[in-house]
Amino acid sequence: MAGEVVARAPAKVNVHLAVGPLRPDGFHELRTVYFAVSLFDTVTVRAGEGLAVSVTGVDADVVPTDRRNLVWRAAVLLAEHAGVRADATIAIAKAIPAAAGLAGGSADAAAALVALDALWGTRVSRTDLHLLAAQLGSDVPFSLLGGVALGAGRGEQLSPVLARTRWHWVLGIAGEGLSTPAVYGELDRLRATGTLPGDSGLAPTDPVIAALRSGPPSALAGALANDLQAPALALRPELGRALRAATGAGALAALVSGSGPTVAALAEDEQGAIRLAAELAGVGLFRTVRAVRGPVPGARLVG
Ligand code: C5P
Repeated sequence: MAGEVVARAPAKVNVHLAVGPLRPDGFHELRTVYFAVSLFDTVTVRAGEGLAVSVTGVDADVVPTDRRNLVWRAAVLLAEHAGVRADATIAIAKAIPAAAGLAGGSADAAAALVALDALWGTRVSRTDLHLLAAQLGSDVPFSLLGGVALGAGRGEQLSPVLARTRWHWVLGIAGEGLSTPAVYGELDRLRATGTLPGDSGLAPTDPVIAALRSGPPSALAGALANDLQAPALALRPELGRALRAATGAGALAALVSGSGPTVAALAEDEQGAIRLAAELAGVGLFRTVRAVRGPVPGARLVG
């Protein structure tokens, strides 16, 4: 058994997020295009007696270290699947803000699956890892896969998407975390009251997939869409100012990432992203501003 194993996994933005009806299982039917960006959480695992989880870095104070942590559940699930004891000491070093719409918890779970599989020598197949990931959360399979992928079902049914080039983004994390179920619930409420159109059809993903294949940032900028943006704005009106600040500072386009409150602002190129990040760091609307690029690979062993 290896002494120490390190894995890392990326944050994501949804460059397209179409939300359909609420299903009987409590999830909404989605058509989404996930896009992995260069902001990574790192998970280090060592042999131990039973499970122990510790968290350091960004938002460490709000992340639980017991069985409520998705990493804990990932360890139990993998051990059950492989028929081994769930013995490990797991250290999560966070760079991805929590409850930000960036799938930080999912990244931690995906990195933990990869790291523990190596530590325990369980050699679980990629297909089975994906199935375990889907049991942990809708975004965990994508955190394993990375790159760019079309997500259907509740987000867990993935098909890789060809991406022509590399794009540069600035992530602005506006205020405290938003609860994902609360944002989905607000969308249902706004649709039920007629404030937003009903969910009769899922917006097609063809335009954004064509833009990802063609390459120019301006094409991707014109194709960005997120059905969760309106309910996130309804729950957090300051997000409107944050989106306007991003486009006012020169972003080609800006949208709420997933259920928010992160604003993802698309830049023309790397220099543009550095300038945009510097400007947005000065407007006083964001607690963290990060220039990132993507797509990047999913959960991987490090070193
Ligand atoms: O799968 P995950 O645990 O990340 O989902 C968290 C919550 O987000 C779900 O309990 C549900 O309220 C909401 N959700 C949804 N439809 C999806 C994905 C998530 O309603 N496709």
